[in-house]
Amino acid sequence: MLALAASVAGAHADDPTITIDAGNPVGKVSPLLYGLMTEEINHCYDGGLYAELVQNRAFLDDPRTPVRWSVLPGGATITLDTNQPVNSALPVSLRLDAQTAPAGIANEGYWGIPVQPNTTYHASFFAKAAPGFSGPVTVAIQSDDGATTYAQAVSQPLTAGWTQYAVTLQTGNCTSTDKARLVLTIQKPGTVWFSLVSLFPPTWNNQPNGFRKDLMQMLVDMKPRFLRLPGGNYLEGDTIDKRFQFKNTIGPISQRAGHQGPWGYRSTDGLGMLEFLRWCEDMGAEPVLAVYAGYSLGGMHVNPGSDLDPYVQDALDEIEYVTGPVTSKWGAQRAKDGHPAPFKLHYVEIGNEDWFDRTHSYDARFAQFYDAIKDHYPQLLCISTVGNEQPAEKRVSSRKPDAVDEHYYRRYTEFIQDSPTHFEKYDRNGPRVFVGEWASYETEFVPWDSRTKALNILPTPNMNAALGDAALMAAMERNSDIVVMNCYAPLFVNINQGAYQWRPDLIGYDALHCYGSPSYYAITMFSRNIGDQLLKVSTADTAVQACATRDSATGTLIIKLVNPQSTEEKVKLDIQGAQSVAPTADALTLAAEPDATNSIDEPRKVVPVSSQVSGVRPTFTYSAPANSITVLGIKSR
Ligand code: AHR
Repeated sequence: MLALAASVAGAHADDPTITIDAGNPVGKVSPLLYGLMTEEINHCYDGGLYAELVQNRAFLDDPRTPVRWSVLPGGATITLDTNQPVNSALPVSLRLDAQTAPAGIANEGYWGIPVQPNTTYHASFFAKAAPGFSGPVTVAIQSDDGATTYAQAVSQPLTAGWTQYAVTLQTGNCTSTDKARLVLTIQKPGTVWFSLVSLFPPTWNNQPNGFRKDLMQMLVDMKPRFLRLPGGNYLEGDTIDKRFQFKNTIGPISQRAGHQGPWGYRSTDGLGMLEFLRWCEDMGAEPVLAVYAGYSLGGMHVNPGSDLDPYVQDALDEIEYVTGPVTSKWGAQRAKDGHPAPFKLHYVEIGNEDWFDRTHSYDARFAQFYDAIKDHYPQLLCISTVGNEQPAEKRVSSRKPDAVDEHYYRRYTEFIQDSPTHFEKYDRNGPRVFVGEWASYETEFVPWDSRTKALNILPTPNMNAALGDAALMAAMERNSDIVVMNCYAPLFVNINQGAYQWRPDLIGYDALHCYGSPSYYAITMFSRNIGDQLLKVSTADTAVQACATRDSATGTLIIKLVNPQSTEEKVKLDIQGAQSVAPTADALTLAAEPDATNSIDEPRKVVPVSSQVSGVRPTFTYSAPANSITVLGIKSR
């Protein structure tokens, strides 16, 4: 169901009232308020935003067998071979022994290879031939059953040494499908080895090693101001040696070994530090850089003091890679990697969810990072990962963090009940608040895919969750004098069974399609429509939740209303302190049945609808539709 039309009527004295003081802004809206959080979970990068189409491209995903690969029927065999490494980052190759020809190997992609008509794909691979074999490799995108070839090209002849080959594949007037595979064949018997087999479709801004275009468009449409990277649990790793290490994620992809992530699968690190930064740049956002702070998920920590020094140095190097001039060591490395210009950076987050550290070592670890960062970069702001709601003994007390990161995964009803007062009670002299992960769920918390399957629900949430999310966002915006940044998590989910680990997630996709959940549209409405001056909002006798800002450049009042009730509510909007308001306002409304949702098959079932509201006066009655989120833009002086 789409949004209901907005309506106004004359105000009555006993109407529920929302008062907006437009004459006395109470503060500045944080310019970074809405952003994104990212990590490799749910095949967010590999099999998601990172446009690589070959899964297990370096044959490292499983040391026992070449998962996602198969040998074409006939007289050939394939085996993983550790005796023919390309280099230390590509220690394993796939050996193809062909007694007859043609013979070949096929990759199933990330739940299918997406084929689009009239599209150019770039394939590359390392290969070498055993003595006695000569000839090229035929590279093709084929239907799963091999019956249809959508595009095909032939490489240069192989040689006895490892060489990288590249071909371009061009599809014709075919029908889009993801029931396809990448096939590499040789036309003569013999033995050849393959490594780092890669296939890219057209990418965002045509960047090599770049991003999937449809997903980037969805992010750009949100107008995020920052990207919290690289995680989450992905930053920490299950163990210390499995933490995110930026130095292993830069340079040519043939030099990146990848690493085991904490969400049950291996990361190629093809989306590495420079790609994160380019991702920010492409969205017009800035990084919020989370640095590993000596605690990993398995519960182990690095002792503060000299043991922690190398990790602190890694963080300083990472900051230099992001912000340093080309004359600095890591700034020069960034330039060598293709980006001489430094990136803007204001916030560095020290660790992730360190309240889980039962040894309470975080205070000392934070202090060591904080002192070193402030010493080298006094302008940078340091975020503690232990928020105001954690017990005092877990919080940082030896330093005053510039901000604290709080995470809220809550049932939507809790957000609706708690939001009117949650941040209002925060100490205005305390640290700023970064809500670095948040999401509403509708039924029960079901982070694991097996349970999602059992409940037969999508990994993306429904309208009820969007209402909870909007109530929280209204609270964060009302209090954006101290709540300086917020971002939903997780951002992405590959909706194929077996591809994801967590629910709820904001944006769903398969190899060919993507869609935003109702929460995606709610966040987009909030993020795209925000002023720079914070206005005081008071509510009386209404369940409708609200926040308001003013754009000082245009004089537009931006009023956001969340009606979580199953009936419409007439609210008196009392705009005080404005000399005049325009008689017509712009409204953007997201309204739907509570259990309505979007999906691959119905991607636009719940989307915002624009309308005009007439009869606007300094005091007027607005009918907030049932189960709705509304943004009103009212020109004022
Ligand atoms: O967003 C999913 C996970 O939730 C994050 O990795 C972690 O920080 C939190 O526990």
